[in-house]
Amino acid sequence: MATLKLSPADLQLDVAPGTPLQDVLFPQGVEFPCGGRGHCKGCRVKVLKGQLPVGEDEKILLTPGERESGWRLACRHSMPGELELELAQWEAAILSDQTAFAFTPRAGLGIAMDLGSTTIAAQLLDLTTGNVLAVQTMLNAQARHGGDIMSRVEFALHGGQMELQRLVREQLGEMASRLLKANLKFKQQNSKLNRVVIVGNTVMHHLFCGVNIAPMAAHPFQPQQPGRCKFSPGELGWDLPDGVVVEFLPCLGGFVGSDILAGIVACGLHASHELMALMDLGTNGEVVVGNREKILCTSTAAGPAFEGARISQGMRAATGAISEVTVEAGLISGRVLGGGEARGLCGSGLVDAVAAGLELNWIQPNGHMANRGEMPLAGPVCLRPRDVRELQLAKGAIAAGLKILAKQFGITIHDLKKVHLAGAFGNYISRASAKKIGLLRMPLANVVPAGNTALLGAKFALFEDAEKWDAIAQRVQHISLNDDESFQDIYAEEMGFPAAV
Ligand code: FES
Repeated sequence: MATLKLSPADLQLDVAPGTPLQDVLFPQGVEFPCGGRGHCKGCRVKVLKGQLPVGEDEKILLTPGERESGWRLACRHSMPGELELELAQWEAAILSDQTAFAFTPRAGLGIAMDLGSTTIAAQLLDLTTGNVLAVQTMLNAQARHGGDIMSRVEFALHGGQMELQRLVREQLGEMASRLLKANLKFKQQNSKLNRVVIVGNTVMHHLFCGVNIAPMAAHPFQPQQPGRCKFSPGELGWDLPDGVVVEFLPCLGGFVGSDILAGIVACGLHASHELMALMDLGTNGEVVVGNREKILCTSTAAGPAFEGARISQGMRAATGAISEVTVEAGLISGRVLGGGEARGLCGSGLVDAVAAGLELNWIQPNGHMANRGEMPLAGPVCLRPRDVRELQLAKGAIAAGLKILAKQFGITIHDLKKVHLAGAFGNYISRASAKKIGLLRMPLANVVPAGNTALLGAKFALFEDAEKWDAIAQRVQHISLNDDESFQDIYAEEMGFPAAV
């Protein structure tokens, strides 16, 4: 065994020489966005002591300066012997939910789970009081086979679907067991667990439920079996009492899953007299517009820019990420999560940075960066023209999706009484910056951060009969943006930034 030291996590591990670093670092929370294929540079580590010889992929992906400073791609190496590494990414902030809500009490305990492609959040509830008894959050174990949904689909298509199913079922089963153990240890309660409700996007639904993923990989991207799936713990290999019902709620369409269905219910959109919208700005921007009469939803190929992916120095909202950019007296300054040196730019920082560039006229309304090729933000982190382009693609797709759904109701986005921004990004984004870049063109007073609506909706579902959720899902009509003849024109228009900032 050899010692692997990790900083700044201050961890020391005994590792057999020859073990792939991906296998050692993944359980420590290090993500491998391209699934360890050597394409993305997201798994960078810096060698502080020991040797990792530079490989071919590192000659392409890393600059000479980075290589000389000791940066390497963890996915390209195995444990050589004694080694000390600095991790470029650590700390995961996973949004749980503490919203109070009205409910009709039921007997026993229930577990709500939000199965995201990146993160998983789960809560154990006392169904008689509605109290949250225990919480678990984790990074999705499937991420070792690809950071985003499409790389997960690709892995599944190349023979990996059973492996992804095994990983996710095992992980959720372990989380459920830990929730029950934590409750017994700290609360001394022995109520019986009755139900587990899981929500997630359509790909997560298929991978968990064992539905063939192939139709999701090609046009028209229709799910093969989008309905609610029901299991016993025994069928899943879970160590839970007999009689517990585990349900994955139904999907709404190709790339609109039960996480959005849960969001619709959590925001009360399905019961509202007024027209409202729900926007979830993850890897695929999902947009819903509706009220108690009619609900339309769509997914937009927004790309993962809002999660800091495909940005030249992009990273998730973790320590070292620039999460806020402000302009004072013509000077730009960036706030770094956790203090210390800036290491990259996360989604909220990207929106702020572009808004700052527009304010200083460094970025033109058409997206071109004036004079210089890059805009320094903090330390070694800069905004580059391709980052601006990625943001334009993402925000243009989402804004166009919202506009087209509103158009189907015969209204404009200014007529929406409320726009709920779901997910972590919705919570941390500066609404003023989102307005400056043209992502939110409606009055900001109508825009509300809604938190983890997927988890909140899953908790609602614990108190209701599953059939009711099937009925709500059937009321939601999925719209394909490409079928709208005005989509390309509106998309192109929305990619631009508002002129007056
Ligand atoms: S280069 Fe993508 S995970 Fe290593």
